[in-house]
Formats: sequence, C-alpha cells, structure tokens
Amino acid sequence: MPTSTKSPLTQYTFAELRRRRSVKWTEFPPDVLPMRIAEMDTPLDGPIADALIRAVADGDTGYATPGRLRELFAAFAGRLYGWHPHAQAMRLAPDVMSGVVEVLRVTTAPGDAVVVNTPGYPPYFTQFGRIGLRVVSSPLLPGPVGYRLDLDHLEHVFAAGAKAFLFCNPHNPTGTVFTPEELVAVAELAERHDVQVVADEILAPLVHPGPRRHVPFPSLDRPAAARSIGLVSASKAWNLAGLKAALIVPGPDAGATVAATDDELAEAAGLFGVLASEAAFADGKPWLDELLSALDANRRLLADEVARRLPRVRHQSPDAGFTAWLDFRGLGLPEDPAARLLRTAKVGVSSGLRFGPPLRPGETAPGDGFVRLNFATRPDLVVEAVERIAAALPPVDEAEGQRRSNRPRT
Ligand SMILES: Cc1ncc(COP(=O)(O)O)c(C=O)c1O
Repeated sequence: MPTSTKSPLTQYTFAELRRRRSVKWTEFPPDVLPMRIAEMDTPLDGPIADALIRAVADGDTGYATPGRLRELFAAFAGRLYGWHPHAQAMRLAPDVMSGVVEVLRVTTAPGDAVVVNTPGYPPYFTQFGRIGLRVVSSPLLPGPVGYRLDLDHLEHVFAAGAKAFLFCNPHNPTGTVFTPEELVAVAELAERHDVQVVADEILAPLVHPGPRRHVPFPSLDRPAAARSIGLVSASKAWNLAGLKAALIVPGPDAGATVAATDDELAEAAGLFGVLASEAAFADGKPWLDELLSALDANRRLLADEVARRLPRVRHQSPDAGFTAWLDFRGLGLPEDPAARLLRTAKVGVSSGLRFGPPLRPGETAPGDGFVRLNFATRPDLVVEAVERIAAALPPVDEAEGQRRSNRPRT
C-alpha cells in the first residue's frame, strides 16, 4: 500500500513493486533489477484513481469517446506553455506511436523518406516500413552540456528530398530540451525544403527545473510550425501507458491534414485512457510537481553515484524525462554493455544498439557502447543499480587490457 511520504517514487516497497503485472516488472527474472522500459514505479495520482474507480463502480467499461479530453488538454497546454491548440481539430488515438504512423501515412507516399534524429526512440526505426517509408538518420551532436541538433546535417537530408521530419521534442533517449533558437531553425529549414514536421511531444510535461523550457513545436510563429502536427499524451508523465489514449494535435494550419487521418483510429483508444488523461490534464498538476521534484532528486542522485562509483562511464543529466543515456565506451568492453550488465550485474537496461542503425555502412551504430537506464524508481534502487554495475565491471587495468587486445591489428 502507498505510504504517507510525499514522493511518488517511495510509495511502494520493492516487494509490492514485484507484484506488478506490467512489462517492467515481468520482463526479467526476479534476480534482475528492471530499469529498461519507460514505466514509473509510482502510485496513480488521486484524481486519476478516483476517475477509474468511479468507472469501475459504474461498470463504465465500454468503448471510448474523446469526452472532454481535447478541451482539457487545450486548457493544460495554455496554462503550461501558453499554447492554445484548437480543441475540436484534435483527434483521439490509442497511443503516440499509432498516431505518428497515421499522420505520416497521410502526409507522405510510399518510398518517401522520414528523418529522425539519432540516437532515437527504437520504434522510430521499426514501425514505418509498413507504410513504405524510408527512415533517414540525422545525428544529434554531443556538446559539453547536453546534446544539440546538427542543423547542417538536417539541412542536408531535407535538401536531399525528405518529406517529413519526426521531431522528438523533448528528446528520447538523451532527455534534451531543445532551445527556442533550434526550434525556429528547424521550422525555417522545413519551410525552405517543404518538409512536414511531426512533433512527438510525449515527454513535454516532464521537463526538470533548470534553464530549459518546453516549447511546443506547433506553437511557433512560423509557417512550417503552423502546418506541423503534434502528438501528445498523459501516458509518460502520469504512468498511464497501459490505458491507451493520446491526441493528434494540429498546428493552426494543419487541421485539414489531421481531418484526413483515419477516424477509426480513435476506436482503438481505451475509455480508461481517456478518463485517466482527462483527470491528469484537469487536476494532475500538483502530483506532477511532486513527481518532478522526486525525479529531479533521482537524476542528481544517479549523476553523483555514477561519478563516484563509475568514473569511466560518461553521463549528461537529462533536461527532461526519466531515462539516463550512459556512455560506457570508455570501458572498452568487448560486448554490448547492456548484455554485460544483464548477465553479470543483474540490471536490465536498454541496449544503445536499438536506438538507430549506423549512419553509413561500416560505421558503428549511434548508440553503440551506450545504455539507457530508467531512474523513475525508489532512490535506494537507483543506488543499488549503480552498486551492482560497479561491482560487475572489470577493474580499470582489465578494461585497459581488453581495449588493447580489441584494437585492430595493422
Ligand atoms: C519519445 C516517445 N515517443 C513515443 C513513446 C511511446 O508512446 P505510446 O506508448 O503512447 O505509443 C515513448 C515511450 O516511451 C517515447 O518515449
């Protein structure tokens, strides 16, 4: 049962979390600390739980309608970002990825290219083949602080004839919140090369304290932004992924494009997803603030623990979200670090290899040597994960020896 302290990340004991039936807590054997899939170890926000309990009590378990979700999201976006999307022009979808696929289907033709940044959310590289799209990578540039867009490369792939840019804003897996200048530059490039921008903004409510603010791409005062289409959902920020509701949100000039999407997509949404998301956008801000302060504390804890116990692992704290993109290349491990951590540390993380293919044949994949670790869990489990990893990695001398023996002989 949830305890009385405020942090949503300390409400359940490890044994209680172990009882969960979701992917996170069932995909690995019980001796593995699960830190792969992007679910959070939180209880439901009170108003969300109340809405779902009411529906269960009423036997209200039929098909979904959008209800008040679109209006409530528009009001939320106005309060948080000063963005006032047109509620009636939005469409309901079961989840962000099916919304992205449908929007790309109506804005491109088979054989067209869609650009995504790498490293990128793994389904971006697997789900568009079924609508005949080619995925073209555009790498992010690592900087001294965080990552940034490679605008020259983006221009290069736009000029080469790309039809769409799937812009992950904020970005998974690096947690980057892009600057307003970067967003304007994207809009200007898209305008110049007639590229349709589709903005995946699922992480938008999860921006941490700091200088960066989320700017919804469709809210920018630029023609390419006005005809862009956003995908939003309460599913990451309030941990509702299994309930199935998301919204397709057109910029001011994209209403007709969104109206051309298949309205049967809405029928795959779940009524519990709609009810929970309505409660999240209407009444979920106090809980979100508590969550953000707990995630911020965990993000700092992880950074400190990594710096202290894993000095050869490089890590830039994310501006948004609850995953850390950890660079193990300095260890020179002879295998994928995620496989190594699962086998020897018993910590389950995402392999960086899944976050996009090599840019050119013969190069390494953009996430080669990286892992993504989900830190939306109890702080003691964050510490335990780093301890387990540190104990399972080779001491510095051994890693140095492995690196030397892996060097190609000339
Ligand atoms: C950037 C991004 N887009 C989309 C998704 C998937 O969202 P959905 O389950 O609504 O398709 C995720 C899930 O973590 C994500 O991080």
